[in-house]
Amino acid sequence: MTRHQDETGAAYDGVVARYAAAFANGLEHQPFSRNMIGTFAELVRQTGSLRTADLGCGPGHLTDMLTGLGLDAFGLDLSPGMLAHARRAHPERRFAQARMESLPLGDGTLGGALAHYSMIHTPPSELPGLLAEQARVLAADGLLLASFFATEEREPVRFDHKVAPAYSWPVERLAELAADAGLFVVAKLIHDPQSERGFLDAHILARRA
Ligand SMILES: C[S@@+](CC[C@H](N)C(=O)[O-])C[C@H]1O[C@@H](n2cnc3c(N)ncnc32)[C@H](O)[C@@H]1O
Repeated sequence: MTRHQDETGAAYDGVVARYAAAFANGLEHQPFSRNMIGTFAELVRQTGSLRTADLGCGPGHLTDMLTGLGLDAFGLDLSPGMLAHARRAHPERRFAQARMESLPLGDGTLGGALAHYSMIHTPPSELPGLLAEQARVLAADGLLLASFFATEEREPVRFDHKVAPAYSWPVERLAELAADAGLFVVAKLIHDPQSERGFLDAHILARRA
C-alpha cells in the first residue's frame, strides 16, 4: 500500500465517530445524492445482476441504503475503524477491508459499483487505475455511480479536506477518464454550491460498455 493510502486510512480511523455523526444519516438532507443513488439502484436492478459494491463505504449507511433499494450490496473500505463502525451499525450487512486500487473481486462479477466521495483522496495520476479496476469488476451493462467534488477549473484542484488532502475534478475530465476506462457515461449531475452540501457537487453515472 502506498503512503497516501496509509495516511488516508489512518485519518479516517481517527474521525469515525465524528464522521458517522455528521454523514451517516442516510442522505436525509441531500436529495440530489439520494435520488442519484435511487436512479443508480433502479438501473442496476434492470440489469438483473444485483451484486453491488459500496466502494469506500465509510460508516456503511449507503451499503444499508443500497440493500433497502433491492440490491445485494456489500461495503469495502481501507479504514479498519470505519469498518468496525459499519459492522456495529449494520450487523446484518457485509463489510470487508480492501483498497479500490486492487479490488478482491472477479472480473465482471458486479451489477453495480458506488463510489460516493471515496475517490476524492486519490491523486489525479492514479484515478485512471481506479476507474479501470471498477470497469474490470463490472459485468457488461453494469453501472458505476461516482460522486465527487467538482471544480470549474481546467485541472483537478488539491484542497485541504477536513480529514485528508483531497481533489476536486473538472466534471468533463473525469467523464473522459471514465470513457477511457470503458465506461459509457449515461448521466452527469452538477449542482450549485449554495444547495445541499455547500460546494460544487457532481455525480457521474456510467455503464460498462
Ligand atoms: C469521504 S468518505 C466517504 C464514505 C461514504 N462513501 C460516504 O459517502 O459517506 C471516504 C471513504 O473512502 C475510503 N477510502 C479512501 N480511499 C480509499 C481507497 N483507495 N480504497 C478504499 N477505501 C478508500 C476512506 O477510508 C473513507 O471511509
